[in-house]
Formats: sequence, C-alpha cells, structure tokens
Amino acid sequence: KVVAVIMVGGPTKGTRFRPLSFNTPKPLFPLAGQPMVHHPISACKSIPNLAQIFLIGFHEEREFALYVSSLSSELKIPVRYLKEDKPHGSAGGLYYFRDLIMEDNPSHIFLLNCDVCCSFPLPEMLDAHRRYGGMGTLLVSAESASEFGELVADPITNELLHYTEKPETFVSDLINCGVYVFTPEIFNVIQDIHTHHEDRANLHTLSRSEALWSPTKTPAKDFVRLDQDILSPLAGKKQLYTYQTMDFWEQIKTPAMSLKCSALYLAQFRLNSPNLLARGDGTKNPTVVGDVYIHPSAKVHRTAKIGPNVSISANVRVAAGVRLMSCIILDDAEIQENAFVMYAIVGWKSSLGKWARVQASSDSFTCGEGDYKTKLGITILGEAVTVEDEVVVVNSIVLPNKILNISVQEEIIL
Ligand code: GDD
Repeated sequence: KVVAVIMVGGPTKGTRFRPLSFNTPKPLFPLAGQPMVHHPISACKSIPNLAQIFLIGFHEEREFALYVSSLSSELKIPVRYLKEDKPHGSAGGLYYFRDLIMEDNPSHIFLLNCDVCCSFPLPEMLDAHRRYGGMGTLLVSAESASEFGELVADPITNELLHYTEKPETFVSDLINCGVYVFTPEIFNVIQDIHTHHEDRANLHTLSRSEALWSPTKTPAKDFVRLDQDILSPLAGKKQLYTYQTMDFWEQIKTPAMSLKCSALYLAQFRLNSPNLLARGDGTKNPTVVGDVYIHPSAKVHRTAKIGPNVSISANVRVAAGVRLMSCIILDDAEIQENAFVMYAIVGWKSSLGKWARVQASSDSFTCGEGDYKTKLGITILGEAVTVEDEVVVVNSIVLPNKILNISVQEEIIL
C-alpha cells in the first residue's frame, strides 16, 4: 500500500499571499476553479494501491473539514486533515503524525508541498524509486533561480550527490520541486535528527544554567526541516535519488504566481479533462477565447467576451459587454456592464462598476505573457472592494473593504 501526505502549512506561512490569504487559507485558493491543493490530490488518484491521503497543517480544522469530507466521497479514498498544534517544519510535521500515517503499514509514502504547480508524475516517480532502491526520491526540474533548493545529481545513476537549500551563490540549475516519495525508513532518519536536536537543546540549557553561555533562543527540539536537516546531510550516501520532470513546474508563493499557475492548470485540463472548460458560442453563452473555467452557478451575459486564462468562481455575475482576460474572479463578485479586467484577481464579493477597468499596465507584460515576478505586476482586489463606474485601477493591490472612486496606478491601497 501507498499513502500520500500533503503539507499545507498554516496561517503564519503564506504571508506573501496576502491579501488573498486573509480569509481563505492559501491551499484552498482556487486555481483553474479548483482549490490549489486539489491539483496534487487529484494527481494522487493515479498512484497504484493508494490507501489514504493526509493533509498536514496548522490551519484551523474547520477551514478544511467540509473540503476533506466532500473530497473523500468524491475520490472514494479517505482524505484526512491532521492539525499540528504548532509548526514542526516540513519533516517534523510528518514525524508528528507517524503513527496515523503508518496505520495501514504502507510500503511507500508520498510527500508533496501544497504550493507547487506541476503535472505531478507520481506513478513514474514511484517506478523510478523502486528501481533506484534508495530511501527517497525527489522530483527535480531544470530551473535557474536561487529561491529554491539546488542540487547536483549523478547523470548516470540519478543519485543525489549534493544539496543546498536556497544558496546564495550558484550551485546548479537543477532544483528541488517539493515532491518526494520515501520508504518508511524516513521516520528513523527524522527520529535521529530529533534526538540530535534534543541533545543540543539539553546542552544549551545546561550551559545557560551555568552562566557560561549567552542566553540565545533555544532551538525547538521537534522542529525538523526536510531540506536542510535531511536532504543536505544524506546527499552522496546512496540513500536519495532524483527523478527529473521535463514538464512545467512553478512555485506558488504570491497572488501573481497563482494567476500564472491557473493558466498552466487550465491548459492541462484541455488535455486531461476538457469537460471542465467552458464552451462559448456567443448566442446563449458568452464568447470564449482559449482556456476558461466558469463555475456552473456563475451568470455570464452572452455578450461578454471571456478568455484566455480566465477562471470564474461560484455565484459571480458578469454583465453585458464585459471583457475578461487573464484573471481570476472569486466567489460572489459582480462585474457590471462594459467593465474590463486583464491580468488581475478580483476578490470575493467585490464589485466593478460600469466601464471600470482593473488591469496591469500594458508595459508590464509583453506579447500576452504576464509579468508575474514583480510585486505590482498584476492588479489584486481583496475581498469586498468596490470599484465605482469608470474608475481605472492599474498595477495596484487594494486591501479588503475599500471603495475606489478615483483611478489609481501602482499603489497599495491600505
Ligand atoms: N504542516 C506543516 N507544518 N507544513 C509546513 C510547515 C510546518 O511546520 N512548514 C512548511 N510547511 C509546508 C509549506 O506549506 C509548503 O507546502 C512546504 O511545507 C514547504 O515549505 P517551506 O519549508 O517553507 O519551504 P519552501 O516552500 O520555501 O521551499 C521548499 O519547497 C521548494 C519547492 O517549492 C524547499 O524544499 C525548496 O528546496 C524547494 O525548492
């Protein structure tokens, strides 16, 4: 049997995702109309002999309760949310729930970060992992950016030879994708790190009581990071191997990246589940361009033109003559006649007046490719923002409950 664990973090994580993580935990933010965490979960369906899926985090239980129970019946696989009382780190969280995870006596454990966007080639990873015969296999991708874990792998055996988490200087152009498969032996390794941390903490307390040590912060004994504490020391010991994806891979730390990843998942729907995409005909339905998701409860006027890369959530109302491109429109928002939205996220219950424009400036994107890396590369309206008639909002972030009656550009409206 195999189990899958998805690390969903908690409210003190995901701060770069504000203002969209104020009321909704980041893992439940919709990409291509489905909660972020839904994409790795539905990829788990293709794992042979999958017994259970666990989400581990320190968000309030009630925020995930409804989602996991409806998911369990939909997938016909038990999905459970396990709440940590405090953050234990990416490996510490796994260890904290080891008894529950090992309940079905699985031979393999998948571990996935919730905030990565890729095609999750999980069965292929499992096959490769079995061939390698090590304790763990990491999904890796060729990227040149220093904000990830960088690694060196043996080109013949694929063994992980060297690992550095977010290095300051160039190490390699292979990065850690945050998707792993382990044998249960991983728990012994985390246990060892635990004991090591405990010894260090005891030494620290002892030294402090003897006043030989300047009182600094005692390291938390049960906080274990997968990357620094486990991958780095185990590299080059014939225990960890890599499996390289040639497909897309992105990390979702900011709202702008969620817009980019929404596009990637919509494109994947076109290949795997085209029935989820909207089909417009301009007569009864609106005109649809490219990949678009429209929730069945949304009401979109037939004279609106939607797409490409648009995702419209539940109960949204889109009036006549509206143009939407590259945007995410969240639940209960209202877009009035002839409004225009491009490279933007419109928050829950927000409202755009007639002829309003919410967009990125035309020089912040070229040839239809958005500028997702800069902070004000797209426009974001938080929850319940009102943009009055004819008001233009360009490259700005608007915090919840604001009323905009004058146009703004490159501003953060607090
Ligand atoms: N439950 C729980 N408890 N989850 C946690 C905790 C914790 O204490 N700490 C982090 N997580 C979750 C996050 O929500 C995220 O899904 C994942 O674990 C990794 O988060 P971080 O440890 O903050 O690392 P990161 O996202 O900055 O970088 C990691 O992922 C990159 C790929 O996206 C590293 O492993 C990098 O090397 C890697 O490139």
